[in-house]
Amino acid sequence: MNTTLQDLGATAGDVYLLISYLFAAIFFVVGLKQMSHPETARKGNFWAAGGMGLAMVTTLFLYRTPAGHTIPTMNVVVILAAIAVGSVMGAVIARKIKMTAMPQLVSFFNATGGAASALVALMEYSNPANESAVVTLLGLVIGTIAFSGSMIAYGKLDGKVGDIFAKWTTWFNLFLLALIAGLMIYMLAFPHDMATGTKLSYVLLALALIYGIMFVMPIGGADMPVVISLLNSLTGIAAAMAGFIYNNQAMILGGIFVGSAGGILTLLMCKAMNRSLLNVIIGAFGGGGAGIDKEHGAIKEITLSDAAVLLAYSQKVVIVPGYGLAVAQAQFVANELVQLLESKGVEVKFAIHPVAGRMPGHMNVLLAEADVPYTKLMEMDDINPDMPNTDVTIVVGANDVVNPAALDDPSSPIYGMPIIHAHESKNIIVMKRGMGKGYAGIENFLFFNDKTRMLFGNAKDTLQKLVSEIKEL
Ligand code: TAP
Repeated sequence: MNTTLQDLGATAGDVYLLISYLFAAIFFVVGLKQMSHPETARKGNFWAAGGMGLAMVTTLFLYRTPAGHTIPTMNVVVILAAIAVGSVMGAVIARKIKMTAMPQLVSFFNATGGAASALVALMEYSNPANESAVVTLLGLVIGTIAFSGSMIAYGKLDGKVGDIFAKWTTWFNLFLLALIAGLMIYMLAFPHDMATGTKLSYVLLALALIYGIMFVMPIGGADMPVVISLLNSLTGIAAAMAGFIYNNQAMILGGIFVGSAGGILTLLMCKAMNRSLLNVIIGAFGGGGAGIDKEHGAIKEITLSDAAVLLAYSQKVVIVPGYGLAVAQAQFVANELVQLLESKGVEVKFAIHPVAGRMPGHMNVLLAEADVPYTKLMEMDDINPDMPNTDVTIVVGANDVVNPAALDDPSSPIYGMPIIHAHESKNIIVMKRGMGKGYAGIENFLFFNDKTRMLFGNAKDTLQKLVSEIKEL
């Protein structure tokens, strides 16, 4: 005899809901796949958002509690109103935000995701019908750490919060972690009444809030990218925990996707900076170490006309874009320079460092905006072997990612981070406004190299003037 869905107590609505979750999961996978290439990344976002939209709508109208109740109409109205307000706010903020402030925005949005999961867990811990105490407490702790940690990361990226590092912070953080783990074990192992449980869950919330702050506070310098993707991963895990509480497959899947994608990105970032994750989290990499105090000569400048001649008569030119290119919004004029040089028979490529700028893929996004063909963007490992054959390397608003101290100064805070080997090319032109430091706050001896010439000014203005000079040749 065949078992029917009715025999299992499922209604047609339950089946449609599950099918919609299956489609949502497929949309997430297609979206993620498309996001892995700049050309399709925009479409990928729409696919993933479509999957999320589908799961939200079907959950609102088809979900039934284990007791068989659908979501009350009044609640649906309140939820729809909250979605409308959130969507309008999100759209306005995302449209207004400057490209250079994008990393802060990502951190801020990540914080809201962590907070949402933590609030769900906090509420559900006091719900007598909730039987998944372990995932609820984990969701509460992880979501809260993701929230407070991301808010501190937001503050740091926005220049509102400085680094605090003292030897005691590592010990204090380990002590806090032990306290959090101990309290969780106590709450799970020893029965207590609902009122006491609720109070303890607030204590756990407070401890996790402090831990999130103290965990991100000492991390500075060039290590922020790793922390940001780690926090992103934590938010995903917290959302998956919330999914387990409600036994909601779409939420579990969505959370796991974010958690694992963030986890993979964290490891890639660690590799790009040559740090182990443990080293980033408890290591003493503050921002400001000065590196060895070696003697350096005077810097040498180059005139626009000399730079124009040097470039126009080169065979191979490499452009290294960095944070300054983003600040100056110089991507369009950089592309103009490439086209102009190519019309003169010069081969031009961009060398993309994985942590150039302030967010993963920052340079790829900027250059794609200016329609630079992807074939011109070379990854660090692919271009480095070719640097000694490069006639001129133009460093546009980049600093840390071309700092040779990462290779030859063991006392430097960025020692061990792979860099673009600009110093190996035959000539180097550095475009920046002055002798300002990069994100890691350290001196860059590339600027004092015999082969280096400085071209001071805002990157966009300088590039524009350079383009005009080359046109006049
Ligand atoms: P940075 O080392 O931050 O250097 C940028 C340089 O651009 C500065 O030295 C500055 O010098 C110059 N600059 C600023 N505004 C400019 C303008 N309008 N025109 C011309 N130059 C300008 O940049 P980078 O080489 O891209 O390295 C990125 C750093 O950020 C790394 O340390 C990385 O670890 C860190 N970080 C990266 C991420 C991600 S995921 N990409 C996230 C957080 C932190 P002047 O002031 O002299 O002009």
